[in-house]
Amino acid sequence: MTSNPNSVHSNNSVNSVENAPLLEVRGLKMHFPIRRGFLQRTVGHVRAVDDVNFFIQPGETLALVGESGCGKTTTARCILRALDPTAGEVLFRTDDGRAVNLAAIPRKQLRPWRQHMQMIFQDPYASLNPRMTLADIVGEPLLVNGMRDRQARNDRVAELLRLVGLRPEYMQRYPHAFSGGQRQRIGVARALALNPSLVVADEAVSALDVSVQAQILNLLMELQERLGLTYLFVAHDLSVVKHISDRIAVMYVGKIVELAPTRRVFSVPKHPYTEALLSAVPIPNPRVHSQRILLEGDVADPSKPPPGCYFHPRCRYAVERCRIEPPPLVEVESGHYAACHRATELTLRGVMGRETGQN
Ligand SMILES: Nc1ncnc2c1ncn2[C@@H]1O[C@H](COP(=O)(O)OP(=O)(O)OP(=O)(O)O)[C@@H](O)[C@H]1O
Ligand code: SF4
Ligand SMILES: [Mg+2]
Repeated sequence: MTSNPNSVHSNNSVNSVENAPLLEVRGLKMHFPIRRGFLQRTVGHVRAVDDVNFFIQPGETLALVGESGCGKTTTARCILRALDPTAGEVLFRTDDGRAVNLAAIPRKQLRPWRQHMQMIFQDPYASLNPRMTLADIVGEPLLVNGMRDRQARNDRVAELLRLVGLRPEYMQRYPHAFSGGQRQRIGVARALALNPSLVVADEAVSALDVSVQAQILNLLMELQERLGLTYLFVAHDLSVVKHISDRIAVMYVGKIVELAPTRRVFSVPKHPYTEALLSAVPIPNPRVHSQRILLEGDVADPSKPPPGCYFHPRCRYAVERCRIEPPPLVEVESGHYAACHRATELTLRGVMGRETGQN
């Protein structure tokens, strides 16, 4: 058994080009200090991200899911160095196959790396400046990176708008003239302006209606195919990531508790928290009734998590050991990792079988 989802790759390592991940996160921690009193003394820490490890292969989509406050956005922001992580490595592969640790690069030297990694935000209303035209919004990253000629910029903006299914004639319009789905397309066009290899989508479709969500997800999948993009797709809802992700990492209180190929997560979950999240996924078959597992109690406070397994106060399978000993993330089956003392002994309920009434 392996205790680190990266270790399958760390032997032939990030230095060899073949089979090397585009992104590898090792031992990532982000602990925010809690300051109190007149002297602002540090009285504790919010362990928002606490020893997170994963890799993403070129062209792959890894989904990061979990309830609100589990550390998804903080993980994404550390990768993009919007935050300076407390500890850990963020290894990003360069075109010549070397891996550079973005967590250790001085801020001033980050610019050339930033253009390889772009973000799509949750709220297309808030993330687009209402006073800028599409030409300026989508063209801004080009300008910042030295494309001073307006005509050349507009040509590229037109190309990007076509790519995301918008008409180039819209270029001189302002964001308020567009629907939610169209605004998210604008956000995607802007993110793609500099030809990134990694796109981090943080709740990119969560604010949209279900039908529009499907259109944006389809667009993202098409663009991935066409441009060879690699995605880190952050969402709180497992049903949203089902079709877009190759693998899923489930987070709970700053830690990954399960990581596996999407099909396995949905059919044979190995962590009771994943089982509970899956029980909330709607089933398309009306003859099959779901048995939703109600998660009692609140998500643990990341500034004072409980001893042992952080999930034990809400876990219906908890035993004495769970209250004392923290479970490490181990490979329970090939490529399937879980942090649960009882992972190999429990038979948990997935969704794939339930959809057909077999489970
Ligand atoms: N700058 C900060 N200072 C202190 N605590 C923070 C800061 N940013 C985030 N946190 C805390 O870190 C934890 C993780 O927050 P984060 O935003 O990463 O969660 P999330 O999984 O993205 O949640 P959501 O689904 O609501 O977006 C939360 O407890 C949050 O309150
Ligand atoms: S280690 Fe124990 S408490 Fe934690 S998820 Fe597994 S069974 Fe539940
Ligand atoms: Mg978030």
